[in-house]
Amino acid sequence: MRMVDIIHKKRSGNVLSDQEIQFFVDGVVSGEIPDYQISALLMAIYFQGMTDSEQATLTMKMMTSGDHLDLSSIPGIKVDKHSTGGVGDKVSIPLAAVIAAMGIPIPMISGRGLGHTGGTLDKLEAIPGYQVEMSEAKFIEQIKRDKCAIIGATGNIAPADKKIYALRDVTDTVDSIPLIASSIMSKKIASGTDALIIDVKTGAGAFMKTLDDSRALAKALVSIGKGVGMQCMALITDMNQPLGRAIGNALEIQESIDVLKGNGPTDLEKLITAIGGYMVVMGGKAKTIGEGQKLAETVIHNGQGLKSFKRMIQDQGGDSNVVDEPTDILPQAAYQIDLPAKRTGIISKMVADEIGVASMLLGGGRQKANDKLDYSVGIYLNKKIGDPISEGESILTIHSNRKDVEDIKKILYDNIEISATAKKPKLIYETVG
Ligand code: URA
Repeated sequence: MRMVDIIHKKRSGNVLSDQEIQFFVDGVVSGEIPDYQISALLMAIYFQGMTDSEQATLTMKMMTSGDHLDLSSIPGIKVDKHSTGGVGDKVSIPLAAVIAAMGIPIPMISGRGLGHTGGTLDKLEAIPGYQVEMSEAKFIEQIKRDKCAIIGATGNIAPADKKIYALRDVTDTVDSIPLIASSIMSKKIASGTDALIIDVKTGAGAFMKTLDDSRALAKALVSIGKGVGMQCMALITDMNQPLGRAIGNALEIQESIDVLKGNGPTDLEKLITAIGGYMVVMGGKAKTIGEGQKLAETVIHNGQGLKSFKRMIQDQGGDSNVVDEPTDILPQAAYQIDLPAKRTGIISKMVADEIGVASMLLGGGRQKANDKLDYSVGIYLNKKIGDPISEGESILTIHSNRKDVEDIKKILYDNIEISATAKKPKLIYETVG
Protein backbone atom coordinates (compact mmCIF):
# COMPACT_ATOMS: atom_id res chain seq x y z
CA MET A 1 0.00 0.00 0.00
CA ARG A 2 1.25 3.51 -0.76
CA MET A 3 0.24 6.65 1.11
CA VAL A 4 0.17 8.67 -2.11
CA ASP A 5 -2.58 6.38 -3.48
CA ILE A 6 -4.64 6.83 -0.29
CA ILE A 7 -4.32 10.61 -0.61
CA HIS A 8 -5.32 10.40 -4.28
CA LYS A 9 -8.34 8.23 -3.48
CA LYS A 10 -9.67 10.60 -0.82
CA ARG A 11 -8.77 13.70 -2.82
CA SER A 12 -10.93 12.28 -5.65
CA GLY A 13 -13.89 11.87 -3.27
CA ASN A 14 -13.77 8.09 -2.83
CA VAL A 15 -14.37 6.01 0.30
CA LEU A 16 -11.28 4.64 2.07
CA SER A 17 -11.26 0.97 3.06
CA ASP A 18 -10.67 -0.19 6.66
CA GLN A 19 -7.22 -1.43 5.59
CA GLU A 20 -6.29 1.94 4.14
CA ILE A 21 -7.40 3.76 7.30
CA GLN A 22 -5.44 1.25 9.41
CA PHE A 23 -2.35 1.78 7.20
CA PHE A 24 -2.66 5.56 7.70
CA VAL A 25 -3.07 5.40 11.50
CA ASP A 26 -0.25 2.85 11.87
CA GLY A 27 2.05 5.04 9.78
CA VAL A 28 1.17 8.14 11.85
CA VAL A 29 2.02 6.38 15.11
CA SER A 30 5.21 4.70 13.86
CA GLY A 31 6.43 7.91 12.24
CA GLU A 32 6.77 6.17 8.86
CA ILE A 33 4.38 8.56 7.12
CA PRO A 34 5.95 12.02 6.86
CA ASP A 35 4.07 15.08 8.14
CA TYR A 36 3.52 16.40 4.60
CA GLN A 37 1.61 13.27 3.57
CA ILE A 38 -0.42 13.20 6.79
CA SER A 39 -1.26 16.87 6.23
CA ALA A 40 -2.23 16.21 2.62
CA LEU A 41 -4.66 13.49 3.66
CA LEU A 42 -6.09 15.72 6.40
CA MET A 43 -6.75 18.42 3.81
CA ALA A 44 -8.35 15.86 1.47
CA ILE A 45 -10.61 14.69 4.34
CA TYR A 46 -11.36 18.33 5.16
CA PHE A 47 -12.70 18.96 1.64
CA GLN A 48 -14.18 15.55 0.77
CA GLY A 49 -15.51 14.50 4.19
CA MET A 50 -15.97 10.90 5.29
CA THR A 51 -18.91 8.50 5.39
CA ASP A 52 -20.30 7.47 8.80
CA SER A 53 -18.57 4.15 8.43
CA GLU A 54 -15.18 5.72 7.55
CA GLN A 55 -15.53 8.07 10.56
CA ALA A 56 -16.27 5.17 12.89
CA THR A 57 -13.33 3.17 11.50
CA LEU A 58 -10.94 6.15 11.83
CA THR A 59 -12.09 6.63 15.45
CA MET A 60 -11.60 2.98 16.38
CA LYS A 61 -8.19 2.75 14.68
CA MET A 62 -7.08 5.93 16.49
CA MET A 63 -8.45 4.55 19.76
CA THR A 64 -6.63 1.23 19.39
CA SER A 65 -3.41 3.07 18.43
CA GLY A 66 -2.72 3.35 22.17
CA ASP A 67 -3.76 2.28 25.66
CA HIS A 68 -7.29 1.72 26.89
CA LEU A 69 -8.02 2.58 30.53
CA ASP A 70 -9.78 -0.12 32.48
CA LEU A 71 -12.03 1.62 35.01
CA SER A 72 -14.09 -1.48 35.78
CA SER A 73 -12.78 -1.61 39.36
CA ILE A 74 -14.52 1.71 40.11
CA PRO A 75 -18.05 0.99 41.33
CA GLY A 76 -20.98 2.80 39.70
CA ILE A 77 -21.73 4.19 36.27
CA LYS A 78 -18.79 6.37 35.18
CA VAL A 79 -20.03 9.55 33.53
CA ASP A 80 -17.95 12.08 31.60
CA LYS A 81 -18.52 15.37 29.77
CA HIS A 82 -16.59 16.93 26.90
CA SER A 83 -16.89 20.26 25.13
CA THR A 84 -15.93 20.86 21.51
CA GLY A 85 -14.22 24.05 22.72
CA GLY A 86 -15.15 27.64 23.32
CA VAL A 87 -14.26 30.96 24.93
CA GLY A 88 -14.86 31.33 28.68
CA ASP A 89 -16.04 27.71 28.74
CA LYS A 90 -15.00 26.56 32.20
CA VAL A 91 -18.09 24.32 32.66
CA SER A 92 -16.11 21.08 33.14
CA ILE A 93 -14.42 22.36 36.30
CA PRO A 94 -17.43 23.17 38.53
CA LEU A 95 -19.52 20.48 36.83
CA ALA A 96 -17.09 17.69 37.76
CA ALA A 97 -17.28 18.80 41.40
CA VAL A 98 -21.08 18.97 41.31
CA ILE A 99 -21.45 15.49 39.81
CA ALA A 100 -18.91 13.99 42.22
CA ALA A 101 -20.78 15.55 45.15
CA MET A 102 -23.77 13.39 44.16
CA GLY A 103 -21.66 10.25 44.39
CA ILE A 104 -21.36 9.72 40.63
CA PRO A 105 -17.81 8.83 39.49
CA ILE A 106 -16.49 11.29 36.92
CA PRO A 107 -13.15 10.32 35.36
CA MET A 108 -12.34 13.40 33.31
CA ILE A 109 -9.49 13.45 30.82
CA SER A 110 -9.23 16.98 29.49
CA GLY A 111 -7.19 18.96 27.02
CA ARG A 112 -5.29 22.19 26.60
CA GLY A 113 -6.29 25.32 24.72
CA LEU A 114 -6.44 25.16 20.93
CA GLY A 115 -6.39 28.37 18.86
CA HIS A 116 -8.65 30.97 20.44
CA THR A 117 -10.28 28.42 22.78
CA GLY A 118 -9.19 27.82 26.36
CA GLY A 119 -8.30 24.43 27.83
CA THR A 120 -9.44 22.93 31.12
CA LEU A 121 -5.92 21.72 32.00
CA ASP A 122 -4.41 25.18 31.47
CA LYS A 123 -7.07 26.70 33.73
CA LEU A 124 -6.49 24.16 36.50
CA GLU A 125 -2.73 24.74 36.31
CA ALA A 126 -3.39 28.36 37.35
CA ILE A 127 -3.95 26.87 40.84
CA PRO A 128 -0.46 26.70 42.40
CA GLY A 129 0.69 23.09 42.68
CA TYR A 130 -2.20 21.45 40.75
CA GLN A 131 -0.88 18.37 38.90
CA VAL A 132 -2.62 17.31 35.71
CA GLU A 133 -0.36 14.32 35.14
CA MET A 134 -1.14 11.14 37.01
CA SER A 135 -0.61 7.41 36.59
CA GLU A 136 -3.60 5.24 35.69
CA ALA A 137 -3.45 3.56 39.13
CA LYS A 138 -3.51 6.91 40.97
CA PHE A 139 -6.31 8.19 38.73
CA ILE A 140 -8.45 5.16 39.60
CA GLU A 141 -7.59 5.45 43.30
CA GLN A 142 -8.59 9.13 43.36
CA ILE A 143 -11.90 8.52 41.58
CA LYS A 144 -12.73 5.74 44.05
CA ARG A 145 -11.97 8.13 46.93
CA ASP A 146 -13.14 11.56 45.68
CA LYS A 147 -15.41 10.47 42.79
CA CYS A 148 -13.64 12.93 40.48
CA ALA A 149 -10.26 13.67 38.97
CA ILE A 150 -9.42 15.98 36.08
CA ILE A 151 -6.17 15.07 34.37
CA GLY A 152 -4.42 15.17 30.99
CA ALA A 153 -4.30 12.08 28.78
CA THR A 154 -2.24 9.49 30.63
CA GLY A 155 0.80 7.99 28.90
CA ASN A 156 -0.31 6.56 25.64
CA ILE A 157 -4.01 7.42 25.12
CA ALA A 158 -4.78 7.76 21.38
CA PRO A 159 -1.21 8.66 20.31
CA ALA A 160 -2.40 9.01 16.69
CA ASP A 161 -4.62 11.90 17.81
CA LYS A 162 -1.70 13.72 19.45
CA LYS A 163 0.17 13.80 16.15
CA ILE A 164 -2.87 14.52 13.97
CA TYR A 165 -4.19 17.22 16.34
CA ALA A 166 -0.89 19.12 16.24
CA LEU A 167 -0.82 18.99 12.42
CA ARG A 168 -4.47 20.09 12.15
CA ASP A 169 -3.68 23.13 14.27
CA VAL A 170 -0.99 24.31 11.83
CA THR A 171 -2.68 23.25 8.57
CA ASP A 172 -6.06 24.90 9.28
CA THR A 173 -7.90 21.60 9.22
CA VAL A 174 -9.36 21.78 12.74
CA ASP A 175 -13.00 22.49 11.85
CA SER A 176 -13.73 19.25 10.01
CA ILE A 177 -16.54 17.04 11.32
CA PRO A 178 -14.83 13.64 10.77
CA LEU A 179 -11.56 14.95 12.21
CA ILE A 180 -13.17 16.50 15.32
CA ALA A 181 -15.42 13.48 15.86
CA SER A 182 -12.59 10.93 15.59
CA SER A 183 -10.30 13.08 17.76
CA ILE A 184 -12.78 13.46 20.61
CA MET A 185 -14.29 10.00 20.50
CA SER A 186 -11.00 8.07 20.15
CA LYS A 187 -9.85 9.63 23.44
CA LYS A 188 -13.20 9.26 25.18
CA ILE A 189 -13.62 5.59 24.23
CA ALA A 190 -10.02 4.91 25.31
CA SER A 191 -10.63 6.63 28.63
CA GLY A 192 -13.10 3.90 29.59
CA THR A 193 -16.16 5.97 30.56
CA ASP A 194 -19.61 4.32 30.53
CA ALA A 195 -21.56 7.44 29.64
CA LEU A 196 -20.67 10.67 27.88
CA ILE A 197 -22.37 13.99 27.28
CA ILE A 198 -20.87 16.28 24.69
CA ASP A 199 -21.41 20.03 24.70
CA VAL A 200 -21.23 20.93 21.02
CA LYS A 201 -20.59 24.64 20.79
CA THR A 202 -22.11 26.61 17.94
CA GLY A 203 -21.47 30.15 16.68
CA ALA A 204 -18.61 32.60 16.19
CA GLY A 205 -16.44 31.25 19.02
CA ALA A 206 -16.96 27.58 18.11
CA PHE A 207 -15.22 25.41 15.53
CA MET A 208 -18.67 24.82 14.02
CA LYS A 209 -20.13 28.23 13.13
CA THR A 210 -23.61 27.21 11.94
CA LEU A 211 -26.37 25.26 13.64
CA ASP A 212 -26.51 22.80 10.70
CA ASP A 213 -22.80 21.97 10.99
CA SER A 214 -23.05 21.73 14.79
CA ARG A 215 -25.99 19.34 14.45
CA ALA A 216 -24.06 17.20 11.98
CA LEU A 217 -21.08 17.09 14.37
CA ALA A 218 -23.33 16.25 17.33
CA LYS A 219 -24.93 13.40 15.35
CA ALA A 220 -21.52 12.05 14.31
CA LEU A 221 -20.23 12.10 17.90
CA VAL A 222 -23.34 10.45 19.36
CA SER A 223 -23.49 7.80 16.65
CA ILE A 224 -19.85 6.81 17.24
CA GLY A 225 -20.41 6.67 21.03
CA LYS A 226 -23.58 4.60 20.77
CA GLY A 227 -21.88 2.38 18.21
CA VAL A 228 -19.45 1.19 20.90
CA GLY A 229 -22.19 0.70 23.47
CA MET A 230 -21.66 3.93 25.43
CA GLN A 231 -24.61 5.96 26.76
CA CYS A 232 -24.04 9.09 24.71
CA MET A 233 -25.83 12.34 23.99
CA ALA A 234 -25.03 15.90 22.96
CA LEU A 235 -26.32 19.37 23.70
CA ILE A 236 -25.85 22.13 21.13
CA THR A 237 -25.15 25.35 23.02
CA ASP A 238 -24.35 28.94 22.17
CA MET A 239 -20.82 30.22 21.61
CA ASN A 240 -21.57 33.49 19.83
CA GLN A 241 -20.56 35.37 22.97
CA PRO A 242 -18.19 34.05 25.65
CA LEU A 243 -19.71 31.87 28.36
CA GLY A 244 -19.95 33.46 31.81
CA ARG A 245 -18.00 36.65 32.38
CA ALA A 246 -14.39 35.51 32.86
CA ILE A 247 -11.94 34.67 30.04
CA GLY A 248 -8.40 33.75 31.09
CA ASN A 249 -7.02 30.94 33.22
CA ALA A 250 -6.94 32.28 36.81
CA LEU A 251 -10.04 34.42 36.20
CA GLU A 252 -11.93 31.32 35.07
CA ILE A 253 -10.89 29.38 38.17
CA GLN A 254 -12.14 32.24 40.29
CA GLU A 255 -15.45 32.20 38.39
CA SER A 256 -15.72 28.41 38.83
CA ILE A 257 -15.37 28.96 42.59
CA ASP A 258 -18.03 31.70 42.44
CA VAL A 259 -20.38 29.20 40.76
CA LEU A 260 -19.75 26.63 43.48
CA LYS A 261 -20.50 29.28 46.11
CA GLY A 262 -23.82 29.97 44.39
CA ASN A 263 -22.66 33.35 43.04
CA GLY A 264 -21.81 32.45 39.45
CA PRO A 265 -23.10 34.20 36.33
CA THR A 266 -26.61 33.09 35.37
CA ASP A 267 -25.75 31.62 31.95
CA LEU A 268 -22.91 29.55 33.38
CA GLU A 269 -24.93 28.13 36.26
CA LYS A 270 -27.81 27.42 33.88
CA LEU A 271 -25.59 25.42 31.52
CA ILE A 272 -23.96 23.50 34.37
CA THR A 273 -27.30 22.48 35.83
CA ALA A 274 -28.68 21.63 32.37
CA ILE A 275 -25.74 19.35 31.48
CA GLY A 276 -25.58 18.12 35.08
CA GLY A 277 -29.24 17.10 34.97
CA TYR A 278 -28.60 14.73 32.05
CA MET A 279 -25.46 13.37 33.71
CA VAL A 280 -27.30 12.58 36.94
CA VAL A 281 -29.86 10.57 34.96
CA MET A 282 -27.08 8.80 33.01
CA GLY A 283 -25.35 8.04 36.32
CA GLY A 284 -28.55 6.45 37.66
CA LYS A 285 -29.16 8.94 40.50
CA ALA A 286 -32.35 10.53 39.10
CA LYS A 287 -35.25 9.34 36.98
CA THR A 288 -36.00 12.55 35.12
CA ILE A 289 -33.89 15.40 33.74
CA GLY A 290 -35.87 17.84 35.90
CA GLU A 291 -35.06 15.86 39.04
CA GLY A 292 -31.38 15.67 37.99
CA GLN A 293 -31.25 19.43 37.43
CA LYS A 294 -32.78 20.11 40.86
CA LEU A 295 -30.13 17.86 42.47
CA ALA A 296 -27.38 19.73 40.61
CA GLU A 297 -28.78 23.07 41.79
CA THR A 298 -28.95 21.78 45.35
CA VAL A 299 -25.28 20.76 45.52
CA ILE A 300 -24.26 24.10 44.02
CA HIS A 301 -26.18 26.02 46.66
CA ASN A 302 -25.54 23.81 49.73
CA GLY A 303 -21.74 23.91 49.39
CA GLN A 304 -21.30 20.18 48.65
CA GLY A 305 -19.92 20.92 45.18
CA LEU A 306 -17.38 23.34 46.63
CA LYS A 307 -16.28 20.68 49.14
CA SER A 308 -15.73 18.18 46.29
CA PHE A 309 -13.71 20.74 44.37
CA LYS A 310 -11.52 21.48 47.41
CA ARG A 311 -10.87 17.77 47.93
CA MET A 312 -9.95 17.22 44.27
CA ILE A 313 -7.51 20.17 44.29
CA GLN A 314 -5.88 18.89 47.48
CA ASP A 315 -5.54 15.36 46.13
CA GLN A 316 -3.97 16.65 42.92
CA GLY A 317 -1.32 18.62 44.82
CA GLY A 318 -2.93 22.05 44.48
CA ASP A 319 -3.32 24.75 47.12
CA SER A 320 -6.91 24.12 48.21
CA ASN A 321 -7.03 27.40 50.16
CA VAL A 322 -7.83 28.82 46.73
CA VAL A 323 -11.52 28.10 47.30
CA ASP A 324 -11.55 30.31 50.42
CA GLU A 325 -9.16 33.05 49.32
CA PRO A 326 -9.05 32.94 45.50
CA THR A 327 -7.54 36.39 44.98
CA ASP A 328 -4.73 35.70 47.51
CA ILE A 329 -3.78 32.37 45.96
CA LEU A 330 -4.38 32.84 42.22
CA PRO A 331 -1.92 34.92 40.20
CA GLN A 332 -3.18 38.47 39.65
CA ALA A 333 -2.31 40.75 36.71
CA ALA A 334 -0.53 44.04 37.42
CA TYR A 335 -3.05 46.23 35.56
CA GLN A 336 -6.84 46.25 35.40
CA ILE A 337 -7.90 48.47 32.52
CA ASP A 338 -11.53 49.24 31.71
CA LEU A 339 -12.94 49.49 28.20
CA PRO A 340 -15.49 52.34 28.27
CA ALA A 341 -18.58 52.30 26.02
CA LYS A 342 -18.42 54.84 23.20
CA ARG A 343 -22.20 55.31 23.19
CA THR A 344 -25.36 54.59 25.16
CA GLY A 345 -27.50 51.62 24.08
CA ILE A 346 -27.77 47.84 24.42
CA ILE A 347 -24.86 45.45 23.87
CA SER A 348 -25.81 43.63 20.67
CA LYS A 349 -22.63 41.75 19.69
CA MET A 350 -19.57 40.32 21.50
CA VAL A 351 -17.72 38.17 18.95
CA ALA A 352 -16.49 35.25 21.05
CA ASP A 353 -13.53 34.07 18.96
CA GLU A 354 -12.03 37.57 18.67
CA ILE A 355 -12.40 38.12 22.41
CA GLY A 356 -10.64 34.76 22.84
CA VAL A 357 -7.86 35.99 20.54
CA ALA A 358 -7.54 39.19 22.62
CA SER A 359 -7.09 37.11 25.78
CA MET A 360 -4.57 34.89 23.97
CA LEU A 361 -2.56 37.96 22.87
CA LEU A 362 -2.41 39.17 26.46
CA GLY A 363 -0.56 35.90 27.17
CA GLY A 364 -3.49 33.78 28.33
CA GLY A 365 -3.28 31.38 25.35
CA ARG A 366 -0.62 29.91 23.10
CA GLN A 367 0.31 31.32 19.71
CA LYS A 368 2.88 28.52 19.25
CA ALA A 369 2.66 25.03 20.73
CA ASN A 370 5.39 25.56 23.36
CA ASP A 371 4.47 29.11 24.45
CA LYS A 372 4.40 29.58 28.24
CA LEU A 373 1.10 30.87 29.57
CA ASP A 374 0.52 33.88 31.79
CA TYR A 375 -2.23 32.56 34.07
CA SER A 376 -3.07 35.96 35.54
CA VAL A 377 -4.23 37.75 32.39
CA GLY A 378 -7.58 37.82 30.64
CA ILE A 379 -10.80 39.72 30.19
CA TYR A 380 -13.73 40.14 32.56
CA LEU A 381 -17.03 41.05 30.92
CA ASN A 382 -18.95 43.60 32.97
CA LYS A 383 -21.74 43.51 30.38
CA LYS A 384 -23.10 40.82 28.08
CA ILE A 385 -25.36 40.79 25.03
CA GLY A 386 -28.75 42.29 25.88
CA ASP A 387 -27.43 44.43 28.77
CA PRO A 388 -28.05 48.19 28.65
CA ILE A 389 -24.98 50.41 28.89
CA SER A 390 -24.33 54.17 29.14
CA GLU A 391 -21.60 56.06 27.34
CA GLY A 392 -18.40 55.90 29.40
CA GLU A 393 -19.52 52.88 31.45
CA SER A 394 -17.13 49.90 31.51
CA ILE A 395 -18.01 47.14 29.02
CA LEU A 396 -15.22 44.92 30.30
CA THR A 397 -12.00 44.94 32.29
CA ILE A 398 -8.70 43.91 30.71
CA HIS A 399 -6.36 42.10 33.14
CA SER A 400 -2.87 42.65 31.77
CA ASN A 401 0.76 42.61 32.77
CA ARG A 402 1.59 45.30 30.24
CA LYS A 403 0.39 48.87 30.63
CA ASP A 404 -0.14 49.59 26.95
CA VAL A 405 -3.08 47.53 25.68
CA GLU A 406 -4.15 49.72 22.75
CA ASP A 407 -3.85 46.73 20.35
CA ILE A 408 -6.17 44.68 22.58
CA LYS A 409 -8.63 47.56 22.96
CA LYS A 410 -8.81 47.89 19.17
CA ILE A 411 -9.68 44.19 18.73
CA LEU A 412 -12.32 44.47 21.44
CA TYR A 413 -13.91 47.67 20.10
CA ASP A 414 -13.96 46.15 16.60
CA ASN A 415 -15.82 43.09 17.89
CA ILE A 416 -18.32 44.56 20.34
CA GLU A 417 -21.39 46.40 19.10
CA ILE A 418 -23.85 48.64 20.92
CA SER A 419 -27.25 49.16 19.24
CA ALA A 420 -30.61 50.65 20.04
CA THR A 421 -32.14 47.21 20.65
CA ALA A 422 -30.85 43.67 21.22
CA LYS A 423 -32.15 40.43 22.66
CA LYS A 424 -30.29 38.07 24.99
CA PRO A 425 -29.25 35.07 22.83
CA LYS A 426 -30.53 31.57 23.41
CA LEU A 427 -28.17 29.43 25.52
CA ILE A 428 -29.23 25.88 24.61
CA TYR A 429 -30.42 25.17 21.07
CA GLU A 430 -31.20 21.46 21.06
CA THR A 431 -30.28 18.01 22.29
CA VAL A 432 -29.13 15.11 20.11
CA GLY A 433 -29.29 11.45 21.10
N1 URA B 1 -11.46 18.72 21.07
C1 URA B 1 -10.74 17.63 20.69
O1 URA B 1 -10.34 16.81 21.51
N2 URA B 1 -10.49 17.46 19.37
C2 URA B 1 -10.90 18.33 18.43
O2 URA B 1 -10.65 18.10 17.28
C3 URA B 1 -11.63 19.48 18.83
C4 URA B 1 -11.91 19.65 20.17
